Amino acid sequence: MSLKPILIHPDPRLKKVADPIARITPEVETLAADMLATMYDAPGIGLAGPQIGVNSRIFVMDATRDPEAEPAPMVLINPEISWSSEAQNSYEEGCLSIPDQYASVTRPSEVRLTWLGLDGATHEREFDGLWATCAQHELDHLNGVLFIDHLSAMKRQMITRKMVKLKREQARG
Ligand code: NI
Repeated sequence: MSLKPILIHPDPRLKKVADPIARITPEVETLAADMLATMYDAPGIGLAGPQIGVNSRIFVMDATRDPEAEPAPMVLINPEISWSSEAQNSYEEGCLSIPDQYASVTRPSEVRLTWLGLDGATHEREFDGLWATCAQHELDHLNGVLFIDHLSAMKRQMITRKMVKLKREQARG
């Protein structure tokens, strides 16, 4: 298990549509373990393949809010939304690829997802609250969409300029 560097926006690898994973292999299992470790270390509640430069349809999440609660790590491969609620919910979103920037994004408040699990079986489950927000945010990553793409062009450009500056500072060391 190893921690992976997380790509920072803007990066062309964050804008690609990711490829489906054909089957569960030991490499996929290792990837999932690395992604969970990287997510918890960050710390974050979700991480998608493209964020560590892996252009595959996989994300991990754990939106357990209570720090006292047991961790509830989830690995979703080839996820799809099979149903979205009419009801919408706004949540102040952030992203490990856009550090320290937060903005309100409106999405369906409940979604039903189907996905392939590490056990090789197809799973289906409904998510609400922060889990629903997180799942939709991560699924967006697999389609090259960032939460700032849901904002006005002005807000998006403002955040992007900050990230360009941050990356320039990081490159200087
Ligand atoms: Ni994100």
